[in-house]
Amino acid sequence: MHRRELLRLLGLSTLAGAVGCVEQPASAGPAGATRRTAAGAAFVPDVEFTLTAAPSDVSSLPGAPTRVWRFTGSLVTGPANTLETLPGSYLGPVIRLRRGQQVRVRFANQLGEDSIVHWHGLDVPDSADGHPRLAIGHGQEYVYDFTVTNRAGTYWYHPHPHMRTGAQVNQGLAGLLLVSDDDEDALALPSGEAELLCVLQDRRFDARNQFVYQGGGQMEMMNGFLGDRSLVSGQLQPTREVDAGWHRVRLLNGSNARIYKLAWSRNLPMTVIGGDGGLLERPVVQRTLTLAPGQRADVLLDLTGLGAGTDVHLDSVAFPEADAGVGMMGMMGGSAPVPNGAPLRMMTLRTRARAGVVFQVPDRLPTFDASWSPRPEARVRRVPLAFQQMQWLLAGRTFSMNEVAADETVAAGSTHVWEFVNQSNGMGMEMAHPIHVHGRQFRVLDRTGGRATNALRAGIVDAGWRDTVLVLPGETVRVQVTFTSHAGLYLYHCHILEHEDMGMMRNFRVT
Ligand code: C2O
Ligand code: CU
Ligand code: CU
Repeated sequence: MHRRELLRLLGLSTLAGAVGCVEQPASAGPAGATRRTAAGAAFVPDVEFTLTAAPSDVSSLPGAPTRVWRFTGSLVTGPANTLETLPGSYLGPVIRLRRGQQVRVRFANQLGEDSIVHWHGLDVPDSADGHPRLAIGHGQEYVYDFTVTNRAGTYWYHPHPHMRTGAQVNQGLAGLLLVSDDDEDALALPSGEAELLCVLQDRRFDARNQFVYQGGGQMEMMNGFLGDRSLVSGQLQPTREVDAGWHRVRLLNGSNARIYKLAWSRNLPMTVIGGDGGLLERPVVQRTLTLAPGQRADVLLDLTGLGAGTDVHLDSVAFPEADAGVGMMGMMGGSAPVPNGAPLRMMTLRTRARAGVVFQVPDRLPTFDASWSPRPEARVRRVPLAFQQMQWLLAGRTFSMNEVAADETVAAGSTHVWEFVNQSNGMGMEMAHPIHVHGRQFRVLDRTGGRATNALRAGIVDAGWRDTVLVLPGETVRVQVTFTSHAGLYLYHCHILEHEDMGMMRNFRVT
C-alpha cells in the first residue's frame, strides 16, 4: 500500500495537526504559592521530605555531560535510610517507606514548566495522586500527605502533567519507591549488597551527548518513543561486581514505550517472586520475563558456586517486532532505529571471589490475600483499545481533563471486572498496550484471543497483584478490581507514555 493512499484511507492528507488533543494545561497559580492536600491538621507525618525537580548535569557518555531533569530529595523527618541517592544517575532518590507510615512530601517544581508527581501503584487520596489537573507551575510547591497502606513491594514515582509525561520522564524524572513491612521482613530475602535495584530504560543521544526526544515527530509518537541505547538505573549497559550467592533483583520497566523480554545468560532461570503489588503467592519459574512499560518484577537469582570473574548477563532477547504490534511507523514501512524486539544487552553481573548470601526459595510466600477470590457476580465493563482518526482511544474516547462518563463512575470499595479488548483498526494497525489503573491493585482473571504464536506471551506473569497489565494485539484481558476507598478523580491509561500524552487515558470517578 502506498503511503499517500494509506493517509487518504486514514482520512488525512498531511499529518500536521492530526493529533486532536490540544487542551492547554490548567493554568498554575503564582510562583512561590503552595498547594496542599486535604489531610488536615490531624495529620502528623512519620516521614517528611522535600522532592525538587530541576535541571541537572550527569555524565552518561565520554565527553560533554548530558543535561537532564532530576528529582533530588532532602529528608526533614523520618528514618535515615528513607532517601537513597543513586550516584552518577539521572534518576531520583530511591524512596524507602514502611507500610503504615504517614508521609508528607513537599514537591518543588523548578523545571520552567508545569508538573506534578504521581506515586505509581500506591493507593492514596485523589489529592495526593498526581492527577494532571493538580499540576503546579515553576517555583510552586505541592504538599502531599498520605498513609502507606500498600503491601511491601516495588513501586515508583514519575511526573504526570498533561501531555508532557513522556517528555519529562525521558528527560530523567523518575525514581523507585520501595515499601517494606513485617511480613516481607520475616522472609529474610537477600538484602543490602545482595539486593539489586534495576530501572530499565532506553534513550537516544545526539552527537553532543544530549537526550533526543520525538525526533521522528508525530508518527513516532503514535508508535511510542524508542531509544537506541539501553540503560540500567541511568548507566549504559553497566557491569556490577556481585558475590557468588543469592540476589534479589528488583526490576522496573521505566521506559516510555519499550517492552523487554528478559532472560539471564548461562540458562539461569527467571525466578519471579513479586510483581507490581508485592510478593506473589508462590514463586513462578520461567525462562523469560516480559516486562512492559510501568511494570515491576521481583526476581531471585542464584549465583552460588560461580568462580570469580564469571559474567552473567541480563538481556532483552529478540522477538518479532509485530508481537509488540504494528504502529504507524510499521504501516508506513519504517521502523525505529532499534525497534521493539531487537536484542539488547541490559547489564552484566561479574562475580567476585566471595561467597554470597545463602537462601532457600520457599514454596509459598507470605500473602495477605487469602480472602481474595474471583467474583463471578461482579459487573463487567468492556474497554476497547483501538486506533481511529489518528488517535489511540480508550473505551472509544480520548482524555479530557475533568470529563467522566457514566460507565467510568464506580462506588468506593466496589468490585468490578474490566475487560480490555485490544482491537485492530481493520487495516492491521494494532499494538500491545500496557494498561494501568490508578489507586488499588487488581488481579488478572484471564487472557484470551490474540496470536497463539506471540513470543511475548510465554514471558508474561499475570499472577499476584498488578497495577499495569500488558494486552497483546488481538487479546482480551479481564481484570478484577476492587476500587480504592478514597472518593475522587483517578486515571486509567496506556503506559506507553506517548499514547498517554496523546489521550489514551481517561478519568474514573470514585463516589
Ligand atoms: Cu505510572 Cu498514571 O502512571
Ligand atoms: Cu499510576
Ligand atoms: Cu498504548
